[in-house]
Amino acid sequence: MHKVIYDTDPGVDDAMALLFLHRHPEIDVMGITTVFGNASVETTTRNALFLKREWDIQAPVAKGASVTIDAARAEREWPAMVHGDNGLGNIEVPHTIDLPLDPRPAHRFIIDTVRANPGEVRLVAVGRMTNLAMALKEDPEIAGLVKDVVIMGGNFYVPGNVSPVAEANIHGDPEAADIVTTAPWKVVVIGLDVTSITTMSRSYLGVMAAKGDAAVKLLDGLSQHYIDFYSHAVDDGMMVHDSCAAVYLVAPELFTTITGAVRVVCGGIADGQTVIKPDGRRFPPGDWDGLPSQIVATGIESEKVIDLIRDTLLRA
Ligand code: BDR
Ligand code: CA
Repeated sequence: MHKVIYDTDPGVDDAMALLFLHRHPEIDVMGITTVFGNASVETTTRNALFLKREWDIQAPVAKGASVTIDAARAEREWPAMVHGDNGLGNIEVPHTIDLPLDPRPAHRFIIDTVRANPGEVRLVAVGRMTNLAMALKEDPEIAGLVKDVVIMGGNFYVPGNVSPVAEANIHGDPEAADIVTTAPWKVVVIGLDVTSITTMSRSYLGVMAAKGDAAVKLLDGLSQHYIDFYSHAVDDGMMVHDSCAAVYLVAPELFTTITGAVRVVCGGIADGQTVIKPDGRRFPPGDWDGLPSQIVATGIESEKVIDLIRDTLLRA
């Protein structure tokens, strides 16, 4: 069983990944930690509680960071055009959900859960990396106690999606992402190189919803606005970014990877750009020397990934 903490900013594609994690028989979701990003942390936390209630997920929800780790960064606007004003495609979601939150902040929940399960926890982070960076700052030893960290974020050999060179999750808190990718733990980076070519069409989702239960029908409904947004880039479908990270947990063989030190540019025209110094390539001394070698996805068997998502979501 893979013991997973899901760090997320639901978020439409976050919701699909959550249902995948919840329904996969080899995954035990130990907790859901929330972060700002696709909406404010108040909204993403409310959404996590809403999905927990609708999908009968037992895992606790712990509320996380509301701003970047470097307080000096200016507040950004929420991407309502992508995920809707309410983060879930503008479907009807109650203002508050009558379920308790874990009393701890997300980063403390992460530290406690990792310490209670040394060597076993897999962190799956699909929003800003702020909670993970805060956990590392407060308790650096957890780096040696986590099994691995799988993140959705970044782009290496393809353009960004919020600037010519940066992807949203990394661009939203570059300092936090740089802390995470340079820490002495195993990080797997699932970025736009693979997620932007892994798309699910509206009709594929619709067929799935027709066969599926209320949970899949809810997912279909909340995805419509996001699919409309993606019409500029995808032919009547959506990129399933966050689910790609979830799939990596159980089917890493569907990905091609390279290894190397990973840094994040903090500031300037390339703010939030992810950079890899591939292992074995020789360069003059630079800011990548002596850093842990991380795993970066450069290829993906998209069709198999999409089918695995479908098969898993349809397991009621
Ligand atoms: C990432 O940004 C958000 O819009 C998605 O939820 C995903 O985590 C893609 O760049
Ligand atoms: Ca996300």
